[in-house]
Amino acid sequence: MSKKAFITGVNGQDGAWLAKLLLDKGYEVYGGVRRSSAALMPNLDFLGITDKIKISEFDLLDYSNIYNTIKDVQPDEFYNLAAQSHVGTSFKQPLTTFQIDSVGVNYVLDILHNFSPKTKFYQASTSEMFGGLDYNRPEAGYSEESPFHPRSPYGVAKLAAHWMTVNYRESYDFFGTSGILFNHESELRGPKFVTRKITLHAATWANGNKGTLLELGNMDAKRDWGWAKEYVECMYLMLQQEKPDTFVIATGETTTVRDFVEYSFAVINREIRWEGEVENEKGFDKKTGEQLVGVNSEFYRPAEVDLLLGDPSKAKNVLGWEPKVKAKELAEIMVKSDVDRMKK
Ligand code: NAP
Ligand code: GDD
Repeated sequence: MSKKAFITGVNGQDGAWLAKLLLDKGYEVYGGVRRSSAALMPNLDFLGITDKIKISEFDLLDYSNIYNTIKDVQPDEFYNLAAQSHVGTSFKQPLTTFQIDSVGVNYVLDILHNFSPKTKFYQASTSEMFGGLDYNRPEAGYSEESPFHPRSPYGVAKLAAHWMTVNYRESYDFFGTSGILFNHESELRGPKFVTRKITLHAATWANGNKGTLLELGNMDAKRDWGWAKEYVECMYLMLQQEKPDTFVIATGETTTVRDFVEYSFAVINREIRWEGEVENEKGFDKKTGEQLVGVNSEFYRPAEVDLLLGDPSKAKNVLGWEPKVKAKELAEIMVKSDVDRMKK
């Protein structure tokens, strides 16, 4: 009999990729989607899998909704990918973020432990929990042993959920695993995250078109960017282990936002010349002189995570996983996909 997996946030970036992976492995895939006035499933549609998933209305804010869902489905594996996942937004909506990303996870843990104790649970933890400060960052990058210092309401909420997951596995006979994933992007990435914002703008300049000005915040921030399609494989692998555990998933390389801009525009054959500093920095097309990039302080954050770099050694040794796609190839995948979509 095929295994049952329940994925919260199934129409998010990772939810859609994971659903595809599990369907390909023969799973019966159940997906939670919160109610919205527009019944759209863009990511599942993009992958052509909307009709293959058993979709139900699911909201992490509602205890009874989670209880009834878990009681009905009794999944073998439960992947908690739903979240208010935008760091910038978490400064504007700290309480909603905490309710969804922390209290909601506590509801799930409590319900699984009491009413579906054999279910294996995956929590989507994040490199935001480390905070990117010099004092706690080892040379080789953050590992499972590094101390945490979250720098946003999102990071704080996710850290509480991470520790609750660890606490459930240490307190009870409960399979609670936490994947600390560094930034991962793809063709399905939400348009407010910096990589997709960049690749969507780059695509508007393709084929000789006059595109739109790309306005960014902090271009000196560095991120360890991988490809979401490869990262969801780790989620699956983590739940196939004998014991629950914590794993860092990363590429082991870090890149500035500015470099990601250059990689993306290079895909459409535009080389950038930079002028000015900080708020006055501008990026021009080297050949035509057109302005492609500018800075808008609206996109700065009250507290920034300056540098994220992960050390995925444990994932390599225990899960046998290694990332193939790094920032440059990632930019290429995303820009090409956006150019194609715009043509259509
Ligand atoms: P995403 O694209 O923003 O997807 C999040 C999903 O959660 C969306 O489908 C969203 O639904 C849903 N959601 C939001 N609030 C909800 C609620 N109250 N109840 C039920 N569903 C709700 O995020 P992602 O990039 O796929 O990330 C997946 C998970 O990994 C998230 O938990 C994120 O915090 C975490 N994570 C991501 C990264 C990364 O770089 N991508 C790195 C580390 C950890 P709507 O479409 O209705 O908003
Ligand atoms: N979003 C955004 N928009 N970010 C910008 C912009 C802009 O216009 N300009 C510069 N940045 C900088 C941000 O300040 C940050 O330093 C970096 O680009 C990346 O921002 P995001 O793409 O929004 O991602 P994030 O690193 O804050 O958070 C993502 O990664 C986390 C893992 O570390 C999200 O996916 C989180 O959900 C995830 O946990």
